[in-house]
Amino acid sequence: MSSVLQKLITPLASSPAEPPRNKVTVVGVGQVGMACAISILLRDLCDELALVDVMEDRLKGEMMDLQHGSLFLKTSKIVADKVDVLTYVTWKLSGLPNHRVIGSGTNLDSARFRYLMAERLGIHASSFNGWVLGEHGDTSVPVWSGANVAGVNLQSLNPDIGTDGDKEQWTATHKAVVDSAYEVIKLKGYTNWAIGLSVADLTESIVKNMSRVHPVSTMVKDMFGIGEEVFLSLPCVLNSTGVSSVVNMTLTDGEVGQLRKSADTLWGIQKDLKDI
Ligand SMILES: *[C@@H]1O[C@H](CO)[C@@H](O)[C@H](O)[C@H]1NC(C)=O
Ligand SMILES: *[C@@H]1O[C@H](CO)[C@@H](O)[C@H](O)[C@H]1NC(C)=O
Ligand SMILES: *[C@@H]1O[C@H](CO)[C@@H](O)[C@H](O)[C@H]1NC(C)=O
Repeated sequence: MSSVLQKLITPLASSPAEPPRNKVTVVGVGQVGMACAISILLRDLCDELALVDVMEDRLKGEMMDLQHGSLFLKTSKIVADKVDVLTYVTWKLSGLPNHRVIGSGTNLDSARFRYLMAERLGIHASSFNGWVLGEHGDTSVPVWSGANVAGVNLQSLNPDIGTDGDKEQWTATHKAVVDSAYEVIKLKGYTNWAIGLSVADLTESIVKNMSRVHPVSTMVKDMFGIGEEVFLSLPCVLNSTGVSSVVNMTLTDGEVGQLRKSADTLWGIQKDLKDI
């Protein structure tokens, strides 16, 4: 007796199943991990999505919930894995070359900056070009000297822009960037959507080998006079290999000074870690 399946479907190809072309693994199924997962799924960036966590029930629940949305997605396979996977991933990462270890760095800070600046100018975030470099968070460095719309440099319109002496107080926008994470956390307890969307954007450049430039963290030794082995965000070209190159951005002396200060702070913390 042949089954419904056998009666319905006649197999033609007999070659063994091919491995996924683009598999993305999201480690951690908390609010941030799941925002990354849904952003990656909705942008069709992979043919297999794997979720990994040590909390088995939560992991299985999130996997099933996403699988139930398969009708509305174009990712053929959604799976989940537990293991001492966190340990494994950490081990695995530590063995990767520098260009394969990418910190999201100031990618989100830059996105927030572009959004807030663009709001003030009444245009879409993608049309305001501006970079926040260095360290994620409080000591991030907004590159006012390069902020532009359609190639029109804002500093050429207002030489005081980004300084405390600026009558228009544009620095308030960068301050809002720094404060925004705290504000959202105060209001909803955590941040997740913007980081998820920004991680999916980085993923797209890597998976699609696009060579787009993003502010992500990379080893900055020997750049801008930084002598230590620290990871700071600079404009990096991302392709399938990872960070394929770094853009040598034109910075003012003040901006270079701020980057070096970030490097010094990080090095101060890092060199103590090395002894552990
Ligand atoms: C990735 O992009 C680079 C630069 O655009 C190109 O030279 C290379 O052939 C591409 N590699 C793949 C695997 O598509
Ligand atoms: C990414 O770019 C680097 C440097 O341009 C190049 O050597 C590498 O082959 C590229 N990666 C891929 C997958 O093509
Ligand atoms: C980067 O650009 C600066 C000028 O903006 C220049 O002085 C420096 O030599 C450049 N660095 C490299 C590695 O070419």
